[in-house]
This record gives sequence, C-alpha cells and structure tokens, in this order.
Amino acid sequence: MPPDTRLAKRLNKINPSATLAITAKAKKLKSEGKDIINFAAGEPDFDTPDFIKDAAIASIKAGFTKYTPTTGIPELKNLISNKFKKDNSLDYAPSQIVVSCGAKHSLFNTLLALVDREDEVLIPSPYWLSYPEMVNLSEGIVHFIKTSPVNNFKITIADLEKNINAKTKMLILNSPSNPTGCVYNLEELKEIARICVAKKIFVTSDEIYEKIIYDNLKHISIASLGKDIYDLTITVNGLSKSFSMTGWRIGYLGGAQYIVEAISKIQDHSTSNPASISQKAAVAALNAPDDFSRNLCQEFQKRRDYLAKRLSGIKKISFVLPQGAFYVFCDISQTGLDALTVANRLLDEAQVALIPGEGFGRNDYIRISFATSLQHLEKGMDRIEEWLGNG
Ligand SMILES: Cc1ncc(COP(=O)(O)O)c(C=O)c1O
Repeated sequence: MPPDTRLAKRLNKINPSATLAITAKAKKLKSEGKDIINFAAGEPDFDTPDFIKDAAIASIKAGFTKYTPTTGIPELKNLISNKFKKDNSLDYAPSQIVVSCGAKHSLFNTLLALVDREDEVLIPSPYWLSYPEMVNLSEGIVHFIKTSPVNNFKITIADLEKNINAKTKMLILNSPSNPTGCVYNLEELKEIARICVAKKIFVTSDEIYEKIIYDNLKHISIASLGKDIYDLTITVNGLSKSFSMTGWRIGYLGGAQYIVEAISKIQDHSTSNPASISQKAAVAALNAPDDFSRNLCQEFQKRRDYLAKRLSGIKKISFVLPQGAFYVFCDISQTGLDALTVANRLLDEAQVALIPGEGFGRNDYIRISFATSLQHLEKGMDRIEEWLGNG
C-alpha cells in the first residue's frame, strides 16, 4: 500500500526554498574538502559579543531556566520600549510589545493575527523569500508590486495606488531591504503612510536591518510619522543582525494594544515565551552602548565599497549600490543564463556559493552576501571574474 500522504491543503502553495538547496549543496562540497567561498550567508560573520554570552551563562547558573511570561520578561520589554523611543521615536509601552523567537516569528504572528482568508497582502518585489510563504500559510493572497532598479527597487506612489483594491489588507515594508539593500527616505515613507492611512491598510514594517545602514543615512520607522499610521503599523525588529545573535532567536514587535493582545494569544498557544536564557542575553545586549552594531556597520561599509568597486569592473553584471543590509543584488541577464544556472555553475565550476534570485522574485538576478571577510571577497570576486571571462 502506498504511504498515506494527506498533508493539509494550506501547504499546497508553499514552495521549497531555493536558498536552502544551494546552501546544502555548498555545505556538502565543503565537507568533501572543496575550497568553497561562501557568498550566500544571511547572517553576520561575527561572533556574538562575550558580554552577551556571559550574561546567558550567568542566567543558566542562576537557574533562570523556566517558563517566563509569554510575551517576554518585564526587564526586557522595558528595554525594548526604551529602544523604540530612543532609536525610532516610537512610543510603545511594554504592554504593546511581544518578544518572540526571532523576527521571523514576530512577522508570522503578525500575519496570523491580521490576515484573513482571501485578504490581499502587498509585497514589493524583489522580496525576502519568507514573506509570500507566510501570507500563504495565513491563507491570504500574495499581491506583488514589481519594482525596478531605476527606482532603487523601491515602490513608487503610483505603483502602490495602482495595486490597491477592495481586498487589500496589508503592506509589508522592509527597509533596509533584503535582498536589494534599498532604504526608504522620509519623503517616500510619508507618501506611503498617507496612502495607507487613506485606504486603511495595515503596514508590517520589518526593520531587522535598521543598524546596518550606510553613508550616514538615517533609518526611519514609518510608524513614527503620525498617530494614524502608528495605529496601523506593526513594527518588527530583533537582535539577530544588529548583535550577531541569529541562533539565539530573539525578535520583537510593537503595535496597537488590541493587535498585540491578539498576537499574545497566538503565542500563548504555540511557542509560549522565547527561551528564558536568550531573553537574559538580550537584556545584556540592549543595556550596552551601541558600539558593537556601529563597528559591525563600519566593517560592512568597507566590504560593500570593495565589492562595488570589483563589480563595477565586470561588464556582464550590473547592480544598484545597496544603502543598507549586507547583500548586493546583481543583474546577470547579460550572461544569457538564468540565475539558477549561474548559481549552480559558479558553485560547481568556480567554487563560489551565492543565492539565485528566483526565491526573491527575479530569476535574472543573483544575491551576493558580503557577510564574509575582505580576503574572501577578494578571492571570490577573482573567481567570478575569471569564470565570466570578464567579457
Ligand atoms: C528581511 C528579513 N526579515 C527577517 C529576518 C529574520 O530574522 P530573525 O533571525 O530575527 O528571525 C531576516 C533574516 O534573514 C530577514 O532577512
């Protein structure tokens, strides 16, 4: 008898991750002793600072190893509330904050709380690959807004207005963006806010790359632009990127009280609290001055500049200079090959691992991550240049 494979229908629309397939292949080759240069990383290549690790170890030794309140310990929520005020000019009382197992979890909770079956969710494309899948799992409808490198991959007001209809419930905004590195400025955010308020559209603002922003640009939280947009916005952030804490799984969100209460209910009956030990580590991180993320950002800016210089010398690649995050999204259409072919062949023939753009909505692009050392960037770029014949 064939095995019983009756999975829930909600999984029908969920795609396997192209990112994971390439990274798994790269890992396998590496384990076989191949000298693979990794341009695929989605996390900073720095260790979590010692003072954060020490706080976690101390909390284990002190027996802080039991359930905590679902939405996080008061000490941490107070610090997050202060952080929102100081960095983002946002007033979220601790009762308006939920700490979750990574920003990914915060985003998923938000969609589950707000998106009904058949509600449309606007996602600027290219996009971070989990957004559409989260909408699908919430049984909403994904509605992409295509952007262009001419506008630095940002949605224009005309784009936004054209794509709104009676079913539109939410816009997902990601600034600085993965994979394009685009950053929305004050004027652009004001216009987006004006339209979302007029049409009563919720905004999920994913600000996870807030601290990785270049050329002295200032990150702006859309929720800080007035009471009406504040009421409609769920601001999502976390410690993964800014403190190199991807494995600790601490993300958080702030929003209107009734939304946050709904999200607390979801978390009550799914994961409960994020790990008690990670919460204590997060307390140490948020209590410290901003030095770690400032240094991280400075280092990334050096790498971005180096990579941009190298890429500018390659005729078959064009790109928009990222203003934030740690990726360059590269147009490879002039190679005459699609992204999956380029990524697979670069891995097999030049031992460079990078992510094909199809998972981000563009199969004529590849994503190069510069979360790796300058030496590796140099070596990897030499290999790419040679593989392309630099013609
Ligand atoms: C745009 C974006 N949002 C959210 C996340 C998830 O972050 P976390 O590790 O906090 O779940 C990522 C991670 O790569 C990301 O790129």
